[in-house]
Amino acid sequence: MKAAVSDFSSSVFSKALPEPIIRGQPLSALAPMQDVTDLSFMTVINECGPPDYFFTEFIRVHEHSILEEHILNSITLNPSNRPVFAQLIGESLPNLQRIVKKLLYYPIAGIDLNMGCPAPKIYKKNVGGGLLKDVNKIDQILGLLRQNIPGLFTVKMRIGFEDTQNFEQVLDLINKHQVDLLSVHGRTVKELYRGEVHYDCIKEAVQSVNCPVLANGNITSVEKALWALNYTGARGVMIGRSAIRNPWIFLQLRQHLSGVPCFQPRLKDLYNYIERLLQATYFSTISELQHVNRMKKFLNFVGQGVDPEGQFLHNIRRTNNYDSLFCVCKEYLLDNGNDSQFFATEPHEGVIARPNCEI
Ligand SMILES: Cc1cc2nc3c(=O)[nH]c(=O)nc-3n(C[C@H](O)[C@H](O)[C@H](O)COP(=O)(O)O)c2cc1C
Repeated sequence: MKAAVSDFSSSVFSKALPEPIIRGQPLSALAPMQDVTDLSFMTVINECGPPDYFFTEFIRVHEHSILEEHILNSITLNPSNRPVFAQLIGESLPNLQRIVKKLLYYPIAGIDLNMGCPAPKIYKKNVGGGLLKDVNKIDQILGLLRQNIPGLFTVKMRIGFEDTQNFEQVLDLINKHQVDLLSVHGRTVKELYRGEVHYDCIKEAVQSVNCPVLANGNITSVEKALWALNYTGARGVMIGRSAIRNPWIFLQLRQHLSGVPCFQPRLKDLYNYIERLLQATYFSTISELQHVNRMKKFLNFVGQGVDPEGQFLHNIRRTNNYDSLFCVCKEYLLDNGNDSQFFATEPHEGVIARPNCEI
């Protein structure tokens, strides 16, 4: 029997959660990532196989904030025809209300609140992950957003700030304010991006809240996604860094769940992906060095799947122009028969990415 494929048309006033691309399958979402999940990256991911949902990088909300054009582009020019949720980070009630009103003119699927960003310069302003310290403030913000968002209101949270002492109370507030979808990154703010993900807390969230939950944190492969779905009971998975490393991960998950053979990228596919990223992230006023540095942000994660010794990444970090960058890419991904080698399905242990944004 042919699987039913859904097509999404955005309505900011719709209260129904959009169907996944293949009806009946668990949901998949590309995690919001500042300086990564812009229009260019979403475009490339879409070409490799889109997730069911996209989330924008966070939109800062404060007294002087406006809707930034580059974030709006990822909504209005998104080529995928998949739902895009706009993510907000902030704590000022009047300004949150003001920005929500403006966003309602755009073709978003819903509005998401960031309760997880662990960057000290952010959480020290009591926004992002900083909100998790103040349950009363969360109560006020969720109440205000629920009142002002006629359609889907979603939240992305970590499991606590320093520990999980507020976790249950926050989950109660998710129910009190009728949040429509909850993404849980199973780490505290202080745990940043490394170390174990507390999937048991994601499971607790699934059991406590009335809305669907997306499990987030170290979903590195199809196998890991299946494990996390099974262990936590979540409605879907949200994938961040592993989608930068392996942009076919959403396609592979869909293929696996449909019972068809999964696309297995070879190193030459990775080379083509890097070329495509370079093309998609180019704009006329960017200098060659700035562009190469931006590419390194992506290659940081891509390199975790190339060689177990981390030599590719080591050499990439030392490049400073297009020629040297592609010379390293050719050596590791195309030359000496490497092109037909399969790309690792899991990141190589011990090859550490060092993203120079958000943290
Ligand atoms: C470079 C980078 C930027 C991020 N920016 C955001 C952001 O704007 N909003 C947000 O909610 N989370 C942000 N995150 C967190 C991710 O959405 C995700 O929760 C986290 O990376 C764990 O998922 P993963 O293990 O699949 O990467 C960012 C993460 C990274 C690595």
